[in-house]
Amino acid sequence: MTAYAFTRLVHILVAILGMGSITASAVLARPSSGVAPVALRSLGRLAGAAMGLMLVSGLLLDYFASGAFHRANWFRLAMLATIASGIAMGYARRAIGQVIAGKADRDRAMGRAAGAIWVAVALVAFIVVLMVRRPFA
Ligand code: HEM
Repeated sequence: MTAYAFTRLVHILVAILGMGSITASAVLARPSSGVAPVALRSLGRLAGAAMGLMLVSGLLLDYFASGAFHRANWFRLAMLATIASGIAMGYARRAIGQVIAGKADRDRAMGRAAGAIWVAVALVAFIVVLMVRRPFA
């Protein structure tokens, strides 16, 4: 297996196994779900690590393909959208951290966290469309 094929496998494996943790976080962050914020923080960390792996493996794909992708608009847009979804997840993790530290009203902070995580879910869906359809050349 070439380095490119291996990296592509990792990229797609993390897309399938890791990205689901973002959707799970969004559903479980609803104030009414009753899930402990500490558990949500762990899920959020897993999602953050998976986002990081998507970015790194995506950049490695370009490297192993001798820079075949980095001038394409879909590739650049995917990088930006991945960073934006990482920022949304970071915002959610901070809100959950405030609940754990007892520094914020639980329902309001968890509502804010859930909203931010849904933004990340929407961005991931957009990224998958970019990866598969490759619009804007
Ligand atoms: C949430 C983030 C991401 C998800 C869920 C995702 C998912 C995917 C999927 C499912 C494919 C296979 C598409 C196909 O073969 O039709 C793919 C391909 C690819 N992705 Fe991503 N991706 C993400 C982020 C990124 C980022 C940030 C980059 C660049 C830095 C990137 C670069 C690539 C490249 C270059 C390919 C083409 C591989 C090939 O055709 O051999 N991806 N991605």
